[in-house]
Amino acid sequence: MTTTTGPARAIGAVGTAHTRIEGRDKVTGAARYAGEIPFADLAHGWLVVSTVARGRVVAVESEPVLALPGVLTVLHHGSAPRVDADYVGVLGRPDPIVGLFQSDRVPCAGWPVALVVAETSEQAREAAEALVVRYETEPHDIDFAAERSGTYTPEPRETMETDKGDLERELAASAVVVDARYTTPEEHHHPMEPHAATVRWDGGRLEVYDSNQGSKWVADELAKLFSLDPGSVRVRSEHIGGGFGSKGVRPHQVAAAMAATVLHRPVRVVLTRRQMFSLIGYRSPTAHRVRLGADADGRLRAFGHEAQNATSTVHEFVEASTGFGRVMYDADAHRTANRLVRLDVPTPTWMRAPGEAPGSFAVESALDELAERCGIDPIALRVRNEPTAGPVSGLPFAGRALLSCFEEGARRFGWAERDPRPGVRREGRWLLGTGTAAATFPAGARPSTAAVTAEADGTFTVRITAADIGTGARTALTLIAADALEVEPGRVRVRIGDSDFGPAMIAGGSTGTRSWAWAIMAAAAGLREQLALGGDIPPEGLTVRSDTSAAIAALPEKERHSYGAQFAEVAVDPASGEVRVRRMLGVFAAGRIVNPLTARGQFVGGMIWGISMALHEEAVRDRASGAHVGPDLAGYHFAAHADVPPIEAHWVDDPDVDDPVGIKGIGEIGIVGAAAAIANAVWHATGVRHRDLPIRPDRVL
Ligand code: MOS
Repeated sequence: MTTTTGPARAIGAVGTAHTRIEGRDKVTGAARYAGEIPFADLAHGWLVVSTVARGRVVAVESEPVLALPGVLTVLHHGSAPRVDADYVGVLGRPDPIVGLFQSDRVPCAGWPVALVVAETSEQAREAAEALVVRYETEPHDIDFAAERSGTYTPEPRETMETDKGDLERELAASAVVVDARYTTPEEHHHPMEPHAATVRWDGGRLEVYDSNQGSKWVADELAKLFSLDPGSVRVRSEHIGGGFGSKGVRPHQVAAAMAATVLHRPVRVVLTRRQMFSLIGYRSPTAHRVRLGADADGRLRAFGHEAQNATSTVHEFVEASTGFGRVMYDADAHRTANRLVRLDVPTPTWMRAPGEAPGSFAVESALDELAERCGIDPIALRVRNEPTAGPVSGLPFAGRALLSCFEEGARRFGWAERDPRPGVRREGRWLLGTGTAAATFPAGARPSTAAVTAEADGTFTVRITAADIGTGARTALTLIAADALEVEPGRVRVRIGDSDFGPAMIAGGSTGTRSWAWAIMAAAAGLREQLALGGDIPPEGLTVRSDTSAAIAALPEKERHSYGAQFAEVAVDPASGEVRVRRMLGVFAAGRIVNPLTARGQFVGGMIWGISMALHEEAVRDRASGAHVGPDLAGYHFAAHADVPPIEAHWVDDPDVDDPVGIKGIGEIGIVGAAAAIANAVWHATGVRHRDLPIRPDRVL
């Protein structure tokens, strides 16, 4: 049959609120996750992790465990298949934690040392808990402190350090100086759905059902690890219960693939909550020194931000906290540096707004201190220091609507009525205060491929290796495709999460939707040209593919970022030390908003995480064992519903003129600046600065 794309008019789906396309499947249980897809002859693997923080495995006593009911095999450094754990993947060499069982070395507590595989999950667990592993231990060092020895500047130095002008001279010439140290603790991302993979060999192909942020990414890394042809690995990830930076190549996929190879049957490995504390990455603790020097009117002469984070002894991860200040504020002298220290801990990784989340806490707290010292309003201070080009790069901004965010936020929040004096508002036992902070996050696009098919029945199918980690990406892409094809969204089917659909950006770095949208726009435009030529659509449909590599390489070089203004009101009980956030309001300039309903969820989710970061989250390590104290969701505190007040998220019009849809990206910016706004509000309530997170009751007292 012949079909057309309908009348040539804009459908206008982008920008209108749509509930999630897969929402009904999710709430009725029809949506299947990686750990629950049924397989015949499925075996279950259970990981065993080290109980010592440094040393080597001297014995894995498999024999007694192999005699337990249902146990099929025990894999460890003496029995597991050899892999190429030193491959170079898309992000460089992988964290050695994915090169499972290749050596007897134990570089941290919670390091994977064995996998027990059994007929049922319960049998595997029982055997794993019974497995005796003997270690030779060595002294460990888990001491993260700003003043410790052994810190270093990682490579490449030119991205780790920036230096413009003479910081010391400008500080000396400043009428007002803030020189303050801030810290944030080790923090963890725990997606609702734990990491899970089911792996089987199917006619010479390794088939992986996984929960990840990029199926093609995971497929390519597994191919390299197992020295397979890239076409021999297929990874699917249809529904994902959260990622936040943690869902890349992790021990579960590798363990399941090893066991499937050894046993010649499908194997499933699901991580436990407690294992997730050491196997999936986390946000490193950070320590900051911020030095600001200003004229009496608040104009910055000197801006200095040095930040330190921890990495492991086996891999390097930089929590690039100083990127925030490099974009936000200019000064006659401007110096930033990221430093690292190697500890006997698991390697940290990306966690929502990596770099910007802790960096903004330090810098935006220091700005508030400067406003106080200068005796000017915190928003007026930011207006006074608004740069006209990238403070370090000198590049033009691809939109910089920060002041519009503050203007709109101040109006909605009622900032004008604020009495700047700290510690003077009482309501019963509560001291009340308000605070604000700025937010920014890079906005980028990465090459992706997509295929759009005109089906013979008049519908359209989009295929792209996108990942919907719970954000509503599938729905956003449907709206984008509908507009691009000029058909109602109901005629568009978006298929994602399958590495066979080809290379595409991962759901990460706030760049997923933008990168995928670009590829879909390109393929849809090509398809419409073909359809305009007329003719019949064959039974298998008419497909056009796109690759945005060239278009994205041609993107003009600019300081391309989203911005935001965060506002918080808190109540502090000076008798108990309790801090309650009473309301929060954020206004964001984050490009064109594709789906207001799910976008609001993204912003508000980030802001809730900011409450959590400000007041609750802190993973505590025991010095003696080098392991966590209370590594579960009872011991690791985070904001619960009762901690979350009414939160408003708004946005100002801010399309990226260089993007086909105008998108910038909204995944991470909601958390940026949120903790600083709360800490600044706590100061306003009490007159006391809190420079170490979280602001626990014992710190308030
Ligand atoms: Mo994000 S921390 O890039 O998943």
